[in-house]
Amino acid sequence: MSSTKSTRTTGSPKEPRDRHDELVREIQRHDHLYHALDRPEISDREYDLLVEELLRLEAAHPELVRNDSPSQRVGSRPLEAFAKVEHRRPMLSLQNSYSVEDIDEFDARVRKQLGSDAPEVIEYFCEPKFDGLAMELVYEGGVLTRALTRGDGSIGEDVTANIRTIRSVPLRLPAEAPPLFEVRGEVILLKDDFAKLNEQQEADGEATFANPRNAAAGSIRQLDSRIAASRPLRMFIYAPGVIEGHSFESQSEFERQCLIWGLPGVGVSDESPEAFRSRLKRALGAGQAPAPQELRLARTARGPSEARAYYEFIQNVREQLPFDIDGVVIKVNSWRTQDELGFVARSPRWATAAKFPPQQAETTLREIAVQVGRTGALTPVAILEPVRVGGVTVSHATLHNQDEIDRKDLRVGDRVVIQRAGDVIPEVVRVANPDREGRTSPFRLPSRCPSCASKVEKPEGEAVARCFNPLCPAIVKESIKHFVSRRAMNIEGLGDKLIDTLVDEGLISRPSDLYALRLDQILSLERQGEKSAQKLLDAIDRSREADLARVIYALGIRFVGEATAKSLALAFSDHDEFLSATAEQLSAIPDIGEKVAQSLLQALQGEYVRGEIHSLLKKGVRLAKRKQAGGQDRLKGLKFVITGTLPEPREEIKSLIEAEGGLIQGSVSKKTDILLAGEEAGSKLAKAQELGIRIMDWAEFQRLLGEPQ
Ligand code: IVH
Repeated sequence: MSSTKSTRTTGSPKEPRDRHDELVREIQRHDHLYHALDRPEISDREYDLLVEELLRLEAAHPELVRNDSPSQRVGSRPLEAFAKVEHRRPMLSLQNSYSVEDIDEFDARVRKQLGSDAPEVIEYFCEPKFDGLAMELVYEGGVLTRALTRGDGSIGEDVTANIRTIRSVPLRLPAEAPPLFEVRGEVILLKDDFAKLNEQQEADGEATFANPRNAAAGSIRQLDSRIAASRPLRMFIYAPGVIEGHSFESQSEFERQCLIWGLPGVGVSDESPEAFRSRLKRALGAGQAPAPQELRLARTARGPSEARAYYEFIQNVREQLPFDIDGVVIKVNSWRTQDELGFVARSPRWATAAKFPPQQAETTLREIAVQVGRTGALTPVAILEPVRVGGVTVSHATLHNQDEIDRKDLRVGDRVVIQRAGDVIPEVVRVANPDREGRTSPFRLPSRCPSCASKVEKPEGEAVARCFNPLCPAIVKESIKHFVSRRAMNIEGLGDKLIDTLVDEGLISRPSDLYALRLDQILSLERQGEKSAQKLLDAIDRSREADLARVIYALGIRFVGEATAKSLALAFSDHDEFLSATAEQLSAIPDIGEKVAQSLLQALQGEYVRGEIHSLLKKGVRLAKRKQAGGQDRLKGLKFVITGTLPEPREEIKSLIEAEGGLIQGSVSKKTDILLAGEEAGSKLAKAQELGIRIMDWAEFQRLLGEPQ
């Protein structure tokens, strides 16, 4: 291992540790120059050489790998699951408002709350409301030690390995940064990067993402950080978590300082409102937008009128921004005043999210297609001339049912107004040319199923027309897609297209047929390789472990969602008892109303559910009744830390605690209620003893749950 091969002027060969230190520092410096200052000093090739040398050095001396080593950016071995970790301070949400007038009301509320303390004009800090995934970064001693999702606000998921792959997130802060520095922000994808990512996905034959937010969230949720590393993620910091050893006076000071320390943001402007607007108009109009922090999009506003003007201006340039936003956030700038105002429920009184109204666009309704769903319901779908709305291209929109089409009087060839609100499926709002001459005749849903041509019926009092042919290929395909889906049997590698082909080729016609599929059958299909086919069979095999609740849900009985399926599995001791359930028994189950009971009885009397359950059993699906399925909240609100070796797998104990309403923490703190300690418990046990936390062994834990031991 020689370090003299490097292009750097390092003089004589060095000890690996020294060279490693030097490389880490050097690469970090170039990262900062490139990502935070946009002032690279070396070419990409030279940079790559440094990283390659570092990787070689670490491969030869694994003991040198550190948390802040740039090698952590390339991703590492997949995790089994994300650990759940408690936030030192809860991550709250913002109160939403939807119009400029609400900004005045917000100002009035703030003044009222401050009473005689209120200054004549309150200074607000205004910035975009980013449409991505909220994230907390924890820097301890200047090193990025943890990144957590928001989770439920109190407990998030530890996605550190994925966040380390984001180049613009520093792995180490300068020495003057506070010893404990928690910052929060949003993980996003720039619109251009999103477009490129989708092109790549398409070229690779992978599913495309509906919008940048989904792509960002989906990338962060990857257990394999190498996938996250391949996605061009970004992050913008906008809020503090716990900070020790440093104090800030205001939000503007905080955000400015974050940028100076190399944390990514959208930049803070100190121009007059007019100068701010004209600069941005020029910058955004010029086609190639500058790097996000160069935009200096955040600024202070004197009083509600300037905040309103900010909202309106940002709304006008929203389309030209390089990333998606869904409003602006207005915060009281002074942190002291923020403290005075405090919180109400789960939101601060000192901030408001002023959202933009849903984005609309006009386009042509080319065709009305009819889809047949899992329950046989016929859904009309608008096929549109593709149009961009709110940063995504829309070419389909659901029309719900015949009544909706009649109410809006939609006809093929019409110009229509469509809208996207948040992540809601696009919808057709109204016709834009109601009096256009030569409008075609009104649309009628077909009287025969477009998939199997059997007669469609619309039961009394229902808005939806249905195909009732249980052998209808469309219904069969959709039922199987539901059966394999993540929350049902969770069979990976069985995509919609493959299911369509398997059904079309006559290899399967019911969910249970999946368990009889053979390798040679899959290989006989076009484009099926041995490796992926075997993977699929393995995934099918794994799903045999599914419990009764999952199977009931997977069978797709109308109105039986996940929660109902869990209640059913809890109420009956096994599948036989479930299959012979009476109306009285069903209605006695909490959360099962008349409508659901009716649907269940009908399903249980029919052939399909009975036949499938027996067939699944015969093919080795366990349908085991999980003791804790659904849970009874026996551990409601209790915070657990688990340590040491226990008789059951960690993951199972965790899900058991969660199923009973308990919470899992990563480390022992004053807030921990119970430490579940197995054999050879170490430092956590000592910490719990020190803090006087209740310590339980396995037997005691079993008693707590009322389980036989
Ligand atoms: S400040 C106490 N600033 O909006 C909450 N949040 O509904 C402090 N968000 O979960 C949050 N852009 O994910 C803040 N500039 C911004 C934001 C922002 C987006 C998100 C954030 C939060 C949600 C609040």
